[in-house]
Amino acid sequence: MPQPDALPPWTIRPATVDDAEAIETLRVGVWKQVYRGLLPDDYLDWLTVTPDHVGRFREALHNTTSWRFILAESNGQLIGYGGVGPVNDYDFPPASPDVGELRTLNVAIPWQRRGVGRALLGRLTAALRDLG
Ligand SMILES: CC(C)(COP(=O)(O)OP(=O)(O)OC[C@H]1O[C@@H](n2cnc3c(N)ncnc32)[C@H](O)[C@@H]1OP(=O)(O)O)[C@@H](O)C(=O)NCCC(=O)NCCS
Repeated sequence: MPQPDALPPWTIRPATVDDAEAIETLRVGVWKQVYRGLLPDDYLDWLTVTPDHVGRFREALHNTTSWRFILAESNGQLIGYGGVGPVNDYDFPPASPDVGELRTLNVAIPWQRRGVGRALLGRLTAALRDLG
């Protein structure tokens, strides 16, 4: 008899440009919930999936010399993703080409604390090394 909160199996794979909209949709949904009380309400109320933001993910997903994205899915639905890429200038100016960072990591609320984030981070760490 399955547990009441049992969730279906999930898998991990590299993300592609075609995943950009689903990734941004997941990011916006997670942010609106987990950052309530931490970020200004006005900002979170304004936050929505826009072609502009989807386009930024699409660009990063396309640029595989600087970026790597890994996603987790279950039954064809995105349940989490993460991306590694160049260090932001504001973090360590001037950014060195041989330094990268974890730039984004989000797991859908019902899937949190089930090991998805840890699994993504493992693959992303390897991807960061692969990028040099
Ligand atoms: C942070 C996040 C990516 C972790 O993913 P996850 O799938 O829930 O994490 P896992 O189940 O793999 O947990 C791995 C470990 O991370 C730590 N962890 C995860 N969520 C945590 C939380 N909310 N508070 C403290 N530690 C946490 C724990 O040590 C956990 O191990 P444990 O469950 O054995 O104690 C996910 O909760 C998330 O998307 N949060 C909202 C967005 C966010 O904060 N993103 C990161 C900054 S952009």
